[in-house]
Amino acid sequence: MTALNINARIAVIGAGAMGAGIAQVAAQAGHTVLLLDNRPGAAAQAIEGIGRQLGKRVDNGKLAAGSRTATLARLLAVEAIEALADCELVIEAIVENLEVKRALLRQLEEICGERCILASNTSSLSITSIAAQLNHPQRVLGLHFFNPAPVMALVEIVSGLASDPALAACLYDTAKAWGKKPVHTRSTPGFIVNRVARPYYAESLRLLQEGTADCPTLDALMRDAGGFAMGAFELTDLIGHDVNYAVTCSVFDAYYGDTRFLPSLIQKELVDAGRLGRKSGHGFYSYAEGAVRPQPITFNSEQPVETCVIEGDLGVANALIPRLREHQMEVIQRDGQGLLRVGDAVLALSDGRMACQRAKEDGLRNLILLDLAFDYSKASRIAISYAAGIEPSALEQGVALLQRAGFTISVLSDSPALAVLRTVAMLANEAADAVLQGVASAADIDLAMRAGVNYPQGPLAWADAIGLEHVLNVLENLQASYGEERYRPSLLLRQRVAEGRTFHD
Ligand code: NAI
Repeated sequence: MTALNINARIAVIGAGAMGAGIAQVAAQAGHTVLLLDNRPGAAAQAIEGIGRQLGKRVDNGKLAAGSRTATLARLLAVEAIEALADCELVIEAIVENLEVKRALLRQLEEICGERCILASNTSSLSITSIAAQLNHPQRVLGLHFFNPAPVMALVEIVSGLASDPALAACLYDTAKAWGKKPVHTRSTPGFIVNRVARPYYAESLRLLQEGTADCPTLDALMRDAGGFAMGAFELTDLIGHDVNYAVTCSVFDAYYGDTRFLPSLIQKELVDAGRLGRKSGHGFYSYAEGAVRPQPITFNSEQPVETCVIEGDLGVANALIPRLREHQMEVIQRDGQGLLRVGDAVLALSDGRMACQRAKEDGLRNLILLDLAFDYSKASRIAISYAAGIEPSALEQGVALLQRAGFTISVLSDSPALAVLRTVAMLANEAADAVLQGVASAADIDLAMRAGVNYPQGPLAWADAIGLEHVLNVLENLQASYGEERYRPSLLLRQRVAEGRTFHD
């Protein structure tokens, strides 16, 4: 099946933030779009709002005036549901309430032709439940846009138990024709993005709770080492803690309390206090007028270092070698166990063990653990941790080496898998379980995380780049350290390691 014909009339019900955005996308793509809301006048107001938005783009030279006029001419506010009778696709973006959505779809079944696709923009309700009790549940699918719909490329095409695969294919092609990046997913809690992204918030919150570092330091690491657009604290301040916490709780409940999705008491306390983030003027950070954003904690060393020795393979951190040489460090390479020696210090990429544990088990004095960077050749900041008892001069030498290569260094207290490595391992683990459970393909999950939440790389491709054996090792060590189910490695990860395959083979 191909995309809906451009002459197909489309209806959007609910003229709020999402409905208006979706209507704009469909009208810009060339469809006639009927917009309906149960608040009298709301649809017309939403179209006026779209007109103003497009007007700004015309003023900035980003849109031809004729395009704006043509888009607006295709947007029709309607006040009665009967007007939707000849639509081929109806997208509901009304209040997030199962019973209200079901009642609307029952009404639509009476009014729309049998071939009309009924789509829901729900972000948390089951498509299977929404479709249940209808005469034709096979024509109900999720069409999950992200906010703001005209800007965000991702659209999750969600299939419930009864959804017709041919209609899922039609919506996929239609979303593509509208300039979007669609992905297929089964109707499971959180679909792809709202499920796979949970560890991004959860691991930073946990590190904060355990006193591993403060918010500005962890945020800076996720940005400057991890390559993410925003750290978890600044991002949840932007999303709103009420919204983000509610999504976590809903996914946690939907998975029957799986500790992988455990909500954070720290975030709950913010919600309880009414510190909802930017919108309330206070979240993890203050947004009061004149408030000064606290700076990440940085460790400086004055030690001169000229030579270092790399023993064996540093894995994904091998990209440090050319960077060190570019900064006029003498780098001697020889066989060994993946260690970087400078003066009395020994540096190694974290394998998920705490520094104190690894130093003892591997007999390494003055061990400094390195966190993951998205790109070691470009990252501006990196986290390290070390075992108690390290000689101060060795710590200075290790830090000096990284400073010499142009990194700013943040020291974390000694916790398993530091910050970026732990987060990426858990994102990949969640994504692997979603693949294992048939929620979506590896390619679609990676695309969803890049297009939906702007990750610098899909978590599965990222795990491939780190090396799946290393990721498995990190998770096993995290699980052993905490003794918690939360860090249990996905069966799919174990399979791929045993088979010597990547996630994308
Ligand atoms: P909103 O509150 O801004 O807009 C909802 C609109 O629906 C309102 O204008 C309301 O008057 C209208 N409405 C409510 N019940 C109705 C009914 N029975 N018939 C006709 N109109 C009705 O909500 P928002 O944020 O646009 O969300 C809409 C849907 O999109 C929800 O299902 C939400 O979960 C989902 N969603 C929201 C996202 C967001 O970031 N806000 C992102 C992705 C999905």
